[in-house]
Amino acid sequence: MKAIKIITGILFSIGLISCESSTYDEIGGYVDNPTFTKNIKPIFDNKCTNCHYAGNNDGISELIDYTTIRESIEYGNTLRDIDTLATMPKNSSKLSNATLKLIYKWKENGYPEN
Ligand code: HEC
Repeated sequence: MKAIKIITGILFSIGLISCESSTYDEIGGYVDNPTFTKNIKPIFDNKCTNCHYAGNNDGISELIDYTTIRESIEYGNTLRDIDTLATMPKNSSKLSNATLKLIYKWKENGYPEN
């Protein structure tokens, strides 16, 4: 019995560690039903928020949460800047096609949060 508990404990810990360490590319893969929390926020956290953080010194838009990110897509220039012009993320390569497709899908589905 004790051995089973220990083994279960070890397996559980390994499970937790592997979840913690999933890479950006794993999170950023394409799915048909993206949600803000699961799929969209990790993209912005990885690619945008290091500059577009709250109260940033450049005076640029804050891309930090559901409202600010959704508004940047719905009413702002985010899609133009990440896709048509590919000027964002600034000083790095264009987002992958899978990532762009995911963001368009999120918009098309009506910006689901969770
Ligand atoms: C290295 C810093 C940096 C990163 C990373 C970055 N931006 Fe920007 N962004 C800027 C700066 C600075 C400007 C102001 C215009 C300029 O200097 O090109 C800007 C301007 C913008 C604008 C238009 C003006 C405004 O204030 O909103 C949008 C939209 C935008 N960025 C979206 C994004 C998105 C989406 C990402 C992530 C995919 C991103 N940016 C990543 C620095 C960055």
